[in-house]
Amino acid sequence: QLMKVYVTRRIPQEAMKALTGAGVCKVSVWDSDEPVPRAELLKGVSGAHGLLCLLSDRIDTEVLDAAGPNLKVISTLSVGFDHLAINEIKKRGVRVGYTPDVLTDATAELTVALLLATARRLPEGVQEVKSGGWSTWKPLWLCGYGLSGSTVGIIGLGRIGLAIARRLRPFGVKRLLYSGRAAKPQAPEVEGEYAPLDTLLSESDFIVVSCSLTPDTQGLCNKTFFSKMKSTAVFINTSRGSVVNQEDLYEALSGGQIAAAGLDVTTPEPLPTDHPLLTLKNCVVLPHIGSATYSTRGIMGVLSANNLLAGLNGTPMPSELAL
Ligand code: GLV
Ligand code: GLV
Repeated sequence: QLMKVYVTRRIPQEAMKALTGAGVCKVSVWDSDEPVPRAELLKGVSGAHGLLCLLSDRIDTEVLDAAGPNLKVISTLSVGFDHLAINEIKKRGVRVGYTPDVLTDATAELTVALLLATARRLPEGVQEVKSGGWSTWKPLWLCGYGLSGSTVGIIGLGRIGLAIARRLRPFGVKRLLYSGRAAKPQAPEVEGEYAPLDTLLSESDFIVVSCSLTPDTQGLCNKTFFSKMKSTAVFINTSRGSVVNQEDLYEALSGGQIAAAGLDVTTPEPLPTDHPLLTLKNCVVLPHIGSATYSTRGIMGVLSANNLLAGLNGTPMPSELAL
């Protein structure tokens, strides 16, 4: 008797092959690039032994109840797990797989790209070229901020935060501050100075949010936070949208309290096209593409398939979340 697996989206082909080729499970897939409707998810997951989901699927009590007592493993195609009701999952003895490490380099690269694009105003420049706004070389036109000699503050020097720091150092960053729950043993490698959040906010020219979304970090970047930043500072978030209070960010950007913001994550996702943040020239918004390289997404897919299979087989997972 094959175990039953539900997959909430079309996933990379290598991942699908790994799942179906193992011969231990019967796989049903919401075979679309669009999210599975809630009612469809509740139906599809019924009786499943394994669930492979994405960060856009909210896996809560309702879904766990719909799955029922067969459920042994949830494998998410993401490093973030704020979409999973961890306490409920733990209570039911369900194991969780996720995809740390394999997306660290791609996400750090995207963060650096977004930081430079925001600080040097690339989207505005591209727009001016296309619209005929480029009339001549002008000394003060489209000026922005550079990394050389700057102070960078990283909120959350975890796997990705550290990879961002390593990449920013060679740009001539003068000081690298970081904040978080505790000083990190890896920090000396990037000459990172552990600093209280207030110090980081008031001294940094670039602030990069790279922490996970938890009750402690939810809404962390609010009115008070932005009011402590330099008026010339650039704010970058590639973690989760809910770390930021977007109304407060809008006020800070439109009122000139901070210079610019680059966001790869928003609340909600997608951000509605009439959202106030999208009217601002000094706000660059990307559609949550931190890990989006062909190779990284393929590797994430296979890892999430292997995590799922290990969960079904009761063997150690390549990447199991400690609950
Ligand atoms: C992306 O945001 C992820 O959590 O993998
Ligand atoms: C810029 O192109 C310069 O020559 O200064």
